[in-house]
Amino acid sequence: MNRLSKRQQAIVSLCEKHKTSIDVGCDHGYVGAELLKLEKTEFLIATDISEKSLLKAQKLFQKEKLKNAKTVCANGLDFENSFAEQIIIAGMGGKNITDILENYKHKDKILRLILQPMKEVALLRKYLNKNNFFIEKDIVICDKKKFYHIFSVRQGKQNLKSINIHFGVCLSPQSEDFYLWLNEKEQKIKKITQKMPKDNEKLKTFQKCLDEIEKIKQNKKQTA
Ligand SMILES: C[S@@+](CC[C@H](N)C(=O)[O-])C[C@H]1O[C@@H](n2cnc3c(N)ncnc32)[C@H](O)[C@@H]1O
Repeated sequence: MNRLSKRQQAIVSLCEKHKTSIDVGCDHGYVGAELLKLEKTEFLIATDISEKSLLKAQKLFQKEKLKNAKTVCANGLDFENSFAEQIIIAGMGGKNITDILENYKHKDKILRLILQPMKEVALLRKYLNKNNFFIEKDIVICDKKKFYHIFSVRQGKQNLKSINIHFGVCLSPQSEDFYLWLNEKEQKIKKITQKMPKDNEKLKTFQKCLDEIEKIKQNKKQTA
């Protein structure tokens, strides 16, 4: 049995072949170990802000004799010799991810970023859009009844519209998991708006979201 969850497998599948990769917030180190085994990276730097988490990764790399893996205890990418072509930041909040990228001294030289925010997904898209990052792939994965967004990103201008910031860059055609997530989101918004007084200022924003969802659904019907 594969020890990686469906979410982690999707992260690995979006990673490319690069000389050096950094797995920021590696915890147990499963994602990085898989990258080395699949030869998607020659060298791996696995980092974590928590010594305890990093110890798990160190033990795993030793046990599996993964000699090209180095571990670093650091906040984000704030450490010596932190350049890598490919960077994976998964399993933390979107705001935390933007802070890590914003403080990264080699941010303009990254070739590939694989990002998986647990929350503040739109905020992360907005940040990437404003900071010369181009989201090439933007997928939704349903793993044990929870939805996860995963991006594959490179350098470049994109000019995302509001609908893309809120619902994703690649809206059509999308996976079944994406449409399940979209339905769940629609139900949640409807539930909130039903209880709101008609003069609530936020109603307009929610209605705009519902209109955007309807647009995506119509688009799906037309392309089916
Ligand atoms: C939920 S785990 C995700 C583990 C793995 N990346 C994955 O997706 O399966 C989040 C990890 O990120 C680490 N973390 C949180 N903020 C961090 C930061 N600013 N810098 C480095 N690591 C961080 C935590 O200590 C924890 O081990």
